[in-house]
Amino acid sequence: MKQGGGMSAADGAAFREVARELTGIALSPEKDYFVEGRLEAVARARGLSLGELAQAVRSAPRGALAQEVAEALLIAETSFFRDPGLFEVLRLQVLPELIAARRAERRLALWSAACATGQEPYSLALLLVEHFPELEGWDVDILATDLSQQALDYAASAVYTQHEVNRGLPARLLVRHFEREAMTWRPRSAVRRLVRFARVDLLRPLPPLPRMDLVLLRNMLIYHDVETKRGVLASVRGRMRSDGRLVLGSAETTLYLDAGFEPSPELGVYRVKDAPSEAPGGGAGGRPDAGAEALDRGPSAPREGVPAVDRGAPCI
Ligand SMILES: C[S@@+](CC[C@H](N)C(=O)[O-])C[C@H]1O[C@@H](n2cnc3c(N)ncnc32)[C@H](O)[C@@H]1O
Repeated sequence: MKQGGGMSAADGAAFREVARELTGIALSPEKDYFVEGRLEAVARARGLSLGELAQAVRSAPRGALAQEVAEALLIAETSFFRDPGLFEVLRLQVLPELIAARRAERRLALWSAACATGQEPYSLALLLVEHFPELEGWDVDILATDLSQQALDYAASAVYTQHEVNRGLPARLLVRHFEREAMTWRPRSAVRRLVRFARVDLLRPLPPLPRMDLVLLRNMLIYHDVETKRGVLASVRGRMRSDGRLVLGSAETTLYLDAGFEPSPELGVYRVKDAPSEAPGGGAGGRPDAGAEALDRGPSAPREGVPAVDRGAPCI
């Protein structure tokens, strides 16, 4: 049966199944309008109808076209300083506490674990550059990862439209920390060099990572079922310091999902209560760890030597 536009219920189900298989995202049939909107362009670019695209992914559910379909269904919605109250909590409470705790080792590892097109990790970098001059000379690493290669390529190029910088970026920070290039804006190298990008699927066993002081895992879990949320939280916790902090989106929680985190008084921030020992292959989905590549820069990696971006890193 055709729904509204050109997609049948059976085709919608085929696309949702591919998204679930390849990305773990659980889309309900009510989201078929979104699926249809996203996939029309994919089908058109191939000279196919949506029905033909559905047929193609049914016959090769792990093929290149299915991957393209799954990627198009990832929801990379984000903005600079999304949820400004949370960034105030990071500025006034979480970061000062972590910096005080790391004063002896002068090392800070932050992870934006579903970074979409990069506004979130660059917001973190802006916060550090703007408000924490005492970090000069520290080994500060912001690792930004996502499943979507398309989103990561965009993030790594760091070229933002006027509309994107208008969404959440205070004019003062735009003027001070961005360069204008024709109609677009790019963070200056002092901001960009703090962030490195890599493709990481949070549903697979994670690669070796630095033990994280702060993890932002915002607005990713909402698209997943309870078992997947549990797996992702445990796996992320396994890469955190014993006093590390986790930040979730405003519609997300660890409650009833992972007792190894406890909520902080600050809304959306969770403290590690129980950091499991670092075990290889501790991913959420139990899928094979093939091709895992270390993203740990190692204890002595020099700040200046960090590439600003890591384009096209293999999916881990
Ligand atoms: C709505 S965006 C959130 C972006 C940002 N954290 C924020 O809150 O503004 C969700 C992101 O999760 C990513 N994602 C979905 N499934 C993933 C997975 N299995 N592993 C890594 N990232 C995933 C999507 O590609 C998308 O970029």
